Amino acid sequence: MQFDNRTAIVTGSASGLGLGMATYLAEEGVRVCLADIDGDRLDQVLPTIPVVAQGPHLGVVADLSTRDGAETMAARAIAAFGRVDILVNNAGGGVIRPTLEHTEETLRQTIDRNLWTMTYCTLAMLPHLLGNGYGRVVSIGAESVRNGLWQHAFYSAAKGGVHGFTTGLAREFAETGVTFNVVAPAMVLTPQYFDLVATLEPDASARQDAFVEQIRGSIPMARGGTVREVAAAVAFLASDDAGYMTGQVVSVNGGSSML
Ligand SMILES: NC(=O)c1ccc[n+]([C@@H]2O[C@H](COP(=O)([O-])OP(=O)(O)OC[C@H]3O[C@@H](n4cnc5c(N)ncnc54)[C@H](O)[C@@H]3O)[C@@H](O)[C@H]2O)c1
Repeated sequence: MQFDNRTAIVTGSASGLGLGMATYLAEEGVRVCLADIDGDRLDQVLPTIPVVAQGPHLGVVADLSTRDGAETMAARAIAAFGRVDILVNNAGGGVIRPTLEHTEETLRQTIDRNLWTMTYCTLAMLPHLLGNGYGRVVSIGAESVRNGLWQHAFYSAAKGGVHGFTTGLAREFAETGVTFNVVAPAMVLTPQYFDLVATLEPDASARQDAFVEQIRGSIPMARGGTVREVAAAVAFLASDDAGYMTGQVVSVNGGSSML
């Protein structure tokens, strides 16, 4: 993949998929700003990102579901790097549960984490990317928007917003040199997922196993994806090579929906 001296912001990169994406991009020589709400974890992972020739990577702690947090991230990355070429809107995460078990708090958390983070970070970076006449915005959506997974209805509503905002931006800014695409994973059991499951009581753990099996059964390849498989798709859409792709949802889903 071609990256011509590029720099990137990856949101939600202190763990899971975002950490894998930041690592993958750095392996390709991209200088990365890792932004996350979890400062302790960010401190732990920052030294693990491969060194690049362009200079040190950057960590920014911010609540990216707020306009202030997103603008702080954008300002710090631009000040440190001079120019930012790539924005990966990965911060998010499901509050996965049957629809009628959502509370006011979990409904709001779902939208805040998944749709407001993507919205505010994109708005914060857009003037800079347009000013450069070059940009790659890759946002993490979800396969559940297409296949309507069990217990995912409201999460899919938030991620559906990510897909919809992306196609609108792609058309509106099609002639600017800035592209907008979505990578939509199906199920990826990250190391952080297993850490979390290890803290559950036996009953809850058994229910979680059964739920994962149910989802696995909906995937023709009969397995979850790996962090690296998702990160590779993100890296391609973030690369110079992907200049003629915009407004696309690229599913990394083991065939769980096709075409
Ligand atoms: N893992 C999967 O199976 C899967 C499937 C489809 C989509 N996704 C999406 O992929 C992305 C990454 O998922 P993951 O499994 O690695 O989750 P994760 O919980 O391990 O990582 C999410 C990261 O986002 C950060 N974050 C959350 N809210 C934030 C905020 N307001 N401001 C700043 N940072 C914030 C968290 O601190 C965390 O480091 C999410 O958008 C998720 O919805 C994951």
